Amino acid sequence: MKIIAYGIRDDEKPYLDQWSKDKGIEVKAVKELLDDSTVDQAKGYDGAVVYQQKPYTAAVLDKLASFGIKSLSLRNVGVDNVDADAVKRNGIKVTNVPAYSPSAIAELAATQLMRLLRRTNTFDRKMAHGDLRWAPDVAGELDKLTVGVIATGRIGRKAIEIYRGFGAKIIAYDIYPNPELKKQGIYVDSLDELYAKADVISLHSPATKENEHMFNDEAFSKMKDGVIIINPARGILVDTDALIRALDSGKVGGAALDVYEDEVGIFNKDFGSFDAIPDERLKNLMKRENVLITPHIAFYTSTAVKNMVQYALNSNVNLIEKGSDDSEVKF
Ligand code: COI
Repeated sequence: MKIIAYGIRDDEKPYLDQWSKDKGIEVKAVKELLDDSTVDQAKGYDGAVVYQQKPYTAAVLDKLASFGIKSLSLRNVGVDNVDADAVKRNGIKVTNVPAYSPSAIAELAATQLMRLLRRTNTFDRKMAHGDLRWAPDVAGELDKLTVGVIATGRIGRKAIEIYRGFGAKIIAYDIYPNPELKKQGIYVDSLDELYAKADVISLHSPATKENEHMFNDEAFSKMKDGVIIINPARGILVDTDALIRALDSGKVGGAALDVYEDEVGIFNKDFGSFDAIPDERLKNLMKRENVLITPHIAFYTSTAVKNMVQYALNSNVNLIEKGSDDSEVKF
């Protein structure tokens, strides 16, 4: 059996090599992502392991299938960049890694929320100019606030656990409520109810066709004045222009975004200076003291990176050998 792994970064390579040695399975590591220009390298392999945020297009998936590769394992959780029709048409089986580390994501969400509440960004900026005064930057306390968690999958549930550790009151919304959480009575009946009651909204939903720009002008108008938005999920869930308007008006009091709707091609690159970042809306957000932007790093812990590589390779082997895996994605 031979597997090709695309988009392998230097920090992933030792985990890949260790797995290959332990299992005695040949894995070719390719630095480039899977696209039109690299897909031909997959010829002769039995399966492909991939990670990227740019699309897995129909053309690329058709080509993989024409090489006889029907086993595709994503090293991440989100599948919104996979052309579902092409997957189905070609009979390609796709796996993801649904739980490489829910803590990695939830811990960053909580960290950023606490930074916003305690105004550390403001104090960092003030102190850099020698201003060590307190006023007017008095902080809030999480144990006095209600956090509304949208989507209670593994990451949402871990976030709830952490927010509860700080003493926050939790309410939640999910179209598929978790039975345990349901018993606790934390679910509200609608997003509108969550918007009306939450001081902080923590977003942990996958991106689907239905929820694109779910945080738009209308949604923001239903939220509490000064609401804090935490989004470590997907950029497309938030209408960035609407968010900027809501920040300008004070409707949104703070936002922590680890994702951004136009992040592909921008995040995980060094532009050399702030001015050289080629996205004015992103820079508009980055300039604000009450907005914390991180470049899609919530997943980026050593535990998560190791699990992403090794779980995806294990899934790929299952697909190749048995034609199925527990992490198979239903499109
Ligand atoms: C995911 O797992 O889907 C992420 O968002 C993390 C990143 C590797 C893309």
